This record gives sequence, C-alpha cells and structure tokens, in this order.
Amino acid sequence: MKDSSPQTIYLKDYTPPAWLVEDVHLTFRLAPRATRVTSRVRFVPNPEATAREFFLHGEELKLISCHIDGRSVTPEVTPEGLTCDVPDGPFTWEAEVEISPETNTALEGLYMSSGMYCTQCEAESFRKITYYPDRPDVMAPFTVRIESDLPVMLSNGNPVAQGQGWAEWHDPWKKPSYLFALVAGNLVNHPDSFTTMSGREVELNIWVRPGDLHKCAFGMEALKKSMKWDEEVYGREYDLDIFNIVAVDDFNMGAMENKGLNIFNSSAVLASPETSTDANFERIEAIIAHEYFHNWTGNRITCRDWFQLCLKEGLTVYRDSQFTSDMRSAPVKRISDVIDLRARQFPEDQGPLSHPVRPESFQEINNFYTATVYEKGAEVIGMLKRLVGDEAYARALDLYFERHDGDAATIEDWLKVFEDVTDRDLTQFKRWYSQSGTPRLKVTEEWTPADASRPPSRDLAANPEAPDQVRGGTGTYTLTFEQHTPPTPGQRDKAPQVLPIAVGLLTPNGDEVVPTTLLEMTEAKQSFSFDGLTRKPVPSLLRGFSAPVVLEREASREERLFLLAHDTDSFTRWEASRDLARASMLGALTDPSKGPDRTWLEALRGVVRDTELDPAYRALLLALPGENEMAQTLHERGITPDPEAIHSTRQAHLQARAELWQANLPILAEEVAVTAPYRPDAEQSGKRALGAAVLDMQSRIDWGKTAARQFETADNMTQQLSALACLIRYDAKNSARYIRDFYDQWKDDRLVIDKWFMLQVSEATPDRAAEAAEGLTQHPDFDLKNPNRFRATLGALAMNHAGFHRADGAGYALLADWLIRLDTLNPQTTARMCSVFQAWRRYDADRQALIRSNLERIAAKPDLSRDVAEMVGRILA
Ligand code: PHE
Ligand code: ZN
Repeated sequence: MKDSSPQTIYLKDYTPPAWLVEDVHLTFRLAPRATRVTSRVRFVPNPEATAREFFLHGEELKLISCHIDGRSVTPEVTPEGLTCDVPDGPFTWEAEVEISPETNTALEGLYMSSGMYCTQCEAESFRKITYYPDRPDVMAPFTVRIESDLPVMLSNGNPVAQGQGWAEWHDPWKKPSYLFALVAGNLVNHPDSFTTMSGREVELNIWVRPGDLHKCAFGMEALKKSMKWDEEVYGREYDLDIFNIVAVDDFNMGAMENKGLNIFNSSAVLASPETSTDANFERIEAIIAHEYFHNWTGNRITCRDWFQLCLKEGLTVYRDSQFTSDMRSAPVKRISDVIDLRARQFPEDQGPLSHPVRPESFQEINNFYTATVYEKGAEVIGMLKRLVGDEAYARALDLYFERHDGDAATIEDWLKVFEDVTDRDLTQFKRWYSQSGTPRLKVTEEWTPADASRPPSRDLAANPEAPDQVRGGTGTYTLTFEQHTPPTPGQRDKAPQVLPIAVGLLTPNGDEVVPTTLLEMTEAKQSFSFDGLTRKPVPSLLRGFSAPVVLEREASREERLFLLAHDTDSFTRWEASRDLARASMLGALTDPSKGPDRTWLEALRGVVRDTELDPAYRALLLALPGENEMAQTLHERGITPDPEAIHSTRQAHLQARAELWQANLPILAEEVAVTAPYRPDAEQSGKRALGAAVLDMQSRIDWGKTAARQFETADNMTQQLSALACLIRYDAKNSARYIRDFYDQWKDDRLVIDKWFMLQVSEATPDRAAEAAEGLTQHPDFDLKNPNRFRATLGALAMNHAGFHRADGAGYALLADWLIRLDTLNPQTTARMCSVFQAWRRYDADRQALIRSNLERIAAKPDLSRDVAEMVGRILA
C-alpha cells in the first residue's frame, strides 16, 4: 500500500487556466539516454480566469535551467510540476530539461521503438517531455526544431527548413499539447498526394522501417478515401500542406491523431495480402479513417477537459462507422458493431467499472479510454441523429464546425447546436451522457381485434395495395414498453431516458404492414398503438439496434423463426437468428437432456443457402454467440454461468450443425470460392468469411483434411490462418507440425508472429490454454515490453473464456503474475488488461475467491502504478 492516496479529479471542479499560451518553440537535441529539450513559451494572462497562480505540469524531468524574460529563476519543483513567481502581464518562459527516451518503457512521452524516436502525449504525457500547462484548453501554435544525425525528422504541421543534422517544423493551427508529436529515425516513405476540394495539393506519406515498404499501399488508399469522404459527407477539407503517418512497433493503443503527424501501432496500418487477414484490412481502413477524421473532430475542435473525451471520441467513432458503412456493407457493419458493443461495452456498463459516457471523476484519465466513452459515445450520437433526422443532423454539424472551430468545447456546446438547429429541448437526452448502466427494455403487446362499430382507418384503406388485407381494418395493436436501468457504481436511481425505438410490423405472410417507424419513448412506461389493422401483426422491434439497450422479450420460437425467414430489416432478422441460437444453448445448459434445437438449425440452413443474400451477412447469421456472451446472458437471467458447461454446450451445437448440414457443405464451399486475385474488399472478404465458417464445419467431419489442403495452398493470410485454426482445433495429431511450419515461414514478420502467438492460446482447449500461454511466455520471441506481443499471449488467454476461467485458477494466477511484472514497465497497458477481471462477480463463489485473491495480490505489489491501483480498486469495490 502506498502512503499517499491518489488524488481524484472532478468535473465539477473545472476552472479556466490562469495563463494562456501565445506560441511555443521547442528544440530537441536527441540522444537515447540524455535528450535535451529546450522550450520557449509566450504566456499571457487569461482574461476569463480569476486566479493568477503559475503552475506547469512536469513529470520525470531533469530540470537543467529556466528563465523568465531572460532572467534565471528558481522555481519550486514537485513530482507533478513546478510553480514560480511570475510577472503580472505577458512574459516569456524558457526552460531546458533532460529526458531518457531509451529507458522509457511506459511508451508515454518521448520513447524509442526499434531504434526510432517517437512520442505519445495523449492524454497527459506531454508533461514527460517538458514543463508546460498540459491541459487541452490551453492551445497554441508550435514551432519545433529537431537535431540528430538520423535521416528522417518529423513533427506537426508543415516543414519549414532543414539542413545537415536538423529539421524545423511549424504548425500554424493552435493545438493542445496532447496533439504534439515528434518522430526521428531511419525511415522510408510511401509517398502520394491528394488534391483537396478547393484545389490545394497535399503531400501524403506513410513512414515505415525499410523492410515494411511493401505494406503501405492499402493504408494510403484508405487515407485518400477518408479525405475524400470527409469532404463529400461532412464538407471538411484538410488544412496543412502535408499529412504524415508513421508506423511504430511499440504502441499502447491503436493509433494517435497528432496534428498532421498521425502515429500508428504498426498493426493498425501495415498490411499485405500474404501477411494480413481480411479483418486486419478492414480494421486498418477504419483506424486510418478514424485518426484522419479527428483532424476536425478532436483537433480543430478539441475538448475543454478530459471529462469531455466522448466529444471527440464518440463523434469520431460514429463518423468512422458511417465511413465503413459507405465503403462496405451497412448492415454487416451495423451487426458487427452491435456484436462488439455487447461483447465489450455491455459487460463494462453492467459491472464495477460502469461509468457515464461523460465521467464525473477519475484518478487516472488513461483508464477512461473505454468502450463506454468510445462505442456507447458513438451510439448516443446515432440516437441523436435518429431523433432529429438526417437533415437536421447535417445542419447541426455545419453549425458545430462553424461555431466551435478553434475551441476547446464541451458536451453542452455540442448539444446546444442541436437545440439551436431543431428547437428541441435536449435536457432529457443529456441523461445519456450522465447516467451509467445499460437500460433494460421490457415489451408487452396487446391486440384488440376489429371493432365493427368503427369504420376502417382511412389512410390505410386508401391504399389499394394493402398487403394481405391486414391494413384497412379496425383492429388495434399496442406495444407497451417499460424501461429500467439497474443501479451502477455511484448511481442508485435512474431517471427515464429518451429511447428511439424503431419498429416495423409484418403480416403473417411476411409483408410489411407498417414500415420502419421511430417511436420516441420518454416515460418509464409508455404505450404506442397502431390501428387500422385486420389481423394481429408480428412485431419487428428495435430495428437497426436503434438504442443501446437490453431488450427483454420472450418471443416464441415460432415468431423468431418467422422473423428469421421474413424480416425485412437485416438487423432484426439477424437478431432473430441470434435469439434462436441463444435460446437453444440456454435450453441445453439448463436441461442437459436437451440437444440443439433442430428446427432452428433447419431454418437457418435454408437462409444460409440463399444465394441472394450477401455472404458476409450469411456468415454473421451463422456465428453462434461466444462463450463470454453466453456467460453474460446467463448472468442477466440470474443464473451463475459454468464456463466448462458453456464451452461444451457450444461445441455440441457446432458439432450437431456440422453433421446436420454435412451434405450442403461442398456446395456452399464451391459457391464462395474466390478465383480472382486477392482483394481485401467487402465482396471477397464476405465470401472468405462464409468460407471459413464452412471450413470449420467440414473440418469437424474430415478431421482437418480440407483445412490441410487450404493451409498448403493458400496465397493469402486470411485463408492460411483460418486453415491453421481448424488444424489446431481438429487435427490434434499433426497440429504441432503445422504450427512449426507456420513459424518457420513467418519468423521474420512480427505482425504475423503475433497471430502465431495468439492463435495457439485462443484455440487451445480449456484445459490447455494456461499452459499454452505460459509456454509461449518462455519463447525467445516473447517480449514483455511490446504491447502487441503481450496482448497476443496473455490477452489471448483472457479471451479464451473456459481456459481463463479454469476451475483451479491457473488462468487467473498466470495472468496476475504477468500483470504484476508488466506494471513496473508499462502501467497503461497493464491497467487496461485488468479489465478482463471486471465480470468476476458473475461466477461461482470458488472462482470469485480465486479472482479476488489474485486481484489483491496485484493490489499489494510495491510501487503499484496509479493506473492499476485505480482499476483494481474499482473492480474490487
Ligand atoms: N486518441 C486516440 C484515438 O482514439 C487513442 C489514444 C489514446 C491513443 C491515448 C494513445 C493514447 O484515436
Ligand atoms: Zn479517437
């Protein structure tokens, strides 16, 4: 235990900065263990502030000297920063500090990765580079001079001048310090250019280590598409002469939107058909877009303080999801996003780490880059757009960019543009930002048959094409919704939230009698009636997943089968299939004498064989809910999940399906075979996704024969890897050989070797997963300092649900051991991974006791980081 308890920061305590910055000049003399950073900063009093106290953040810095207006001063220095007596009016601050990038394993501030210098400053790491008011509401233009003998030296903005051993950059756009970036190294570039809508030519580069040059083309195309899309859809033009992307191997997150100099985890930008899967390509396209879109939503308009993080992240995730929908398939993107939301955000929102989309307090802001801020934040924007309509949304965004360009803004500012454009009162809507927890939505239906005393409803009767004569009657169908959000940490009672509920009504023969209609629910309990019907319709509820809620409705199997066959909304049709799968597995879990629901499997076969449907969509229909999702589902129903039982039940379902469909598999495989050269586009990826599902079924029957053939002949990583997965699963006898062959083929490619580490752990049987992970930590290629490799090994263990939750606790203990080791080197990645324990109260008392003791072991580590202390504390609370 530490003696000084960590400080909690509150949104309500926000005060404007006492001093503003007019401009910043930085000089870096790079050296691995002794980089010298000199800063010259023009400070002016902030007219909006009341206090005049001068405080600069600074951590782990060796202060060499400092001056105010040229006179040497002696500030008071603490571990968090410094204070100093300063003039009343504007003055110039100069300081020189020394830092050691080579020993910086936290990967925050200036550090080294594979011989290159790079930076990561969001959220609060600029203070590890020099003394500065390191808060997003202090914005300034930066001029940066880099001195080193490395061939490439980059910073934000435009290049100004360069010579032997130095380069100078100037960023004219004022920005907060978290968007500062510097890169220097022996790099090569993949160049291109883009002409903006006003005809300006922008130089584009992706900078990589020399061996990676062949992996840049796809990222570059994605960048150009993103630039074009943001012009066409949001009217946003790029605003510098140059846009640089750099790939680094050691990075805590996916990528970072530094102004004009985006820095990417190499896994989020480098791709080639031989080394990357379709899923990698799609993710890269989305992350490139995301970081590029931040140039307007994040950089030109930034956040006033870190509580407003969702202002930039929720909106930018929403924008990148729109981009992916436009580039690929909108229904497939929506379903994939919902799967992801349920897998990551729902457990967070329903457990000890639950927090509002806009949190109200934190100890370590790094711990709030969460699925709630990002993905629920994006869902909230989707709801807002659904409620106000597309046209008002577009006008609101125009106003947002116009009114707040150059600002450090808040959620209040964001909502105000919508209020001003629509005249709507968004007070209740704002609860989506302040109330945590996933709302539960109960639905009941009521049918009042034809009332002979009433004439048929006019507008429906007026339509002579009314299908099946369901319309034009006098019956009334009523849906009654009840919303309730269970208590979450710090929030016992919740007020009703505005829920946009998209519904459609179908006739019993599958025609749409009421097309998608948006119901706006504002009360705790509310009814909506549809009249003029002759027969009771079948409801299709929460179309497009119009609100991020748990829908509680026990529809009959017949109704779900009907929707699977007929629903005109692709999301709810998929949801029906998901519900049937869930119900079948739940049935078998609660009554072991029950096998898989064969009626559902037959019906599903019919849909999956429909060649009119997009193969990617059919692959999604085929995917059973994962084990973790099943554990969550059981928990939601008050049943304690048994990880081993979930695993074997799910396997039994997959096996039964493969056997039942055996005769159809060759035809399906043939239908989705791709003969054209590899392209990572939606069409081919969809076919390969369905092909992989078919290969899994085939492998269960032929023990890997087909998979072995695919493994030997594949010319792309997607198919090589899916074949290897099947061989690990179903060909126990030979799998070691295939694993060796794969390693020999790819040992020089780190990103592929990450996959090699990951697959062996994620595909291990539950009894072997912990040993597999432990064995791999002893492999010479295991590198504790590389977050990708750590996640590929220990993160993969946590993803293997039954393996991680092995009853003897071996999985928990192994992970805790490694988290304790990693904390000393890299608190941010350690803290993030602690969240795999967040759902621990779902499980039985024995498992809970094991998890608790491991969490306590982590908490007791001497000098535990603030990041991890906060996470473990919240999980145990
Ligand atoms: N702001 C980055 C993004 O969303 C994520 C990030 C946060 C990266 C913190 C590094 C550190 O694109
Ligand atoms: Zn982002």
